[in-house]
Amino acid sequence: MIKHSKKCDNVKYAVRDILSVAGEAKKKGLPLHYLNIGDPLKFDHSTPQHMIEAVHKAMLEGQNGYCASSGTDEAVEAVKREAKRLNIQNVQDVFITSGASEAIELCLTALLDPGDNVLTPFPGYPLYTAVQAKLDAPENPYYLDEANDWMPDPDDIRKKINSRTKAIVLINPNNPTGSVCSKEMLMEIAKIAEEKDLLVLCDEIYDKILYDDAKHISLASLNPDLPVITFNGVSKSYIAPGFRIGWGIASGNKQKLSGFLDALNKLLRARLCACTPVMASVKAALEGPQDHLTALMKKMTPRRDMTYKMLNDIEGISCVKPKGAFYAFPKLDVKDDADFVKSLIMETGVIVVPGSGFGQKPGTQHLRIVFLPDEATLKDSYMKLAEFMNKWRRK
Ligand SMILES: Cc1ncc(COP(=O)(O)O)c(C=O)c1O
Repeated sequence: MIKHSKKCDNVKYAVRDILSVAGEAKKKGLPLHYLNIGDPLKFDHSTPQHMIEAVHKAMLEGQNGYCASSGTDEAVEAVKREAKRLNIQNVQDVFITSGASEAIELCLTALLDPGDNVLTPFPGYPLYTAVQAKLDAPENPYYLDEANDWMPDPDDIRKKINSRTKAIVLINPNNPTGSVCSKEMLMEIAKIAEEKDLLVLCDEIYDKILYDDAKHISLASLNPDLPVITFNGVSKSYIAPGFRIGWGIASGNKQKLSGFLDALNKLLRARLCACTPVMASVKAALEGPQDHLTALMKKMTPRRDMTYKMLNDIEGISCVKPKGAFYAFPKLDVKDDADFVKSLIMETGVIVVPGSGFGQKPGTQHLRIVFLPDEATLKDSYMKLAEFMNKWRRK
């Protein structure tokens, strides 16, 4: 018997954990609608051709060895120029990683001792709490306010800071709510971080997927002195999640960041480097044609509109309008979202993820919907959801 580490008992990742229930529904022979996967390539979206060509060329040219632990010069310089376009000043370091996921994991590892904590948005992307569990760092959630377009609640942030708090995570635009932070809110969070001497971990992986007149502002651009790590990558805005290429931009006061960056660079060196030839996609993505974004938003805007309307038409469901990314996080008038979602999948084949997998205010129930599929699939799914909810409420 090989004994596993106790730490793993607390590692949860709802987005993929739900697949075992989907497997059961499949065995029953139900046609499945996958509204749980945040991968545009599983639907009618594709990676820009020029990014594929750049990687192909790099491979043919023999860029197939290890590269520097922070990434190839070409990719690092392209990210530095992107930082400039985002108005991020005082850049101290840039590192290319295997997806933003690796950058997030390495930064949390470089930052946290057992017992330390990081203020993490609930609802939020569950990787943060999964990594914290691995590092013996207890959860310290701050709640997003559903009544205020899912904006962070600065009073809650202030209340939750304690002597072991090391950082604030901000996911903007947010997964799973699709909310986008206003400049005022970003300034408020930056102010709290400055006052309390906290690092900000700012996840901007959906920064170019914006609806209507939503504007994205990088928190790091608002205070050049504040230590911030800004995460991004090619998975979402550049429709290439399988490339596994992301990055981190460390900006702010050099002295304040230096110890942390030394530790981070040790971890970067210990894992050698991210995938060298695929790094050629970074410059191609950030500095090549951007027309795929226009095409993506042309498809996604009616899908977002349909999602918002059809969900709010269902009795027992209410949904804040997403302003960015490709997720909706409707509220359910039910007792237990995990129970509801499990039955929904088993009876209708519509796969979504329960809100409890992303963190939510105690006593509230939600589910997360990915509205990347085409409108016919979405329409059929929402009709099935409406019928199921109707039956559930009459039970
Ligand atoms: C908020 C957020 N951050 C990071 C990631 C992971 O990104 P990557 O594919 O670059 O590892 C995701 C993926 O869904 C995400 O939603």
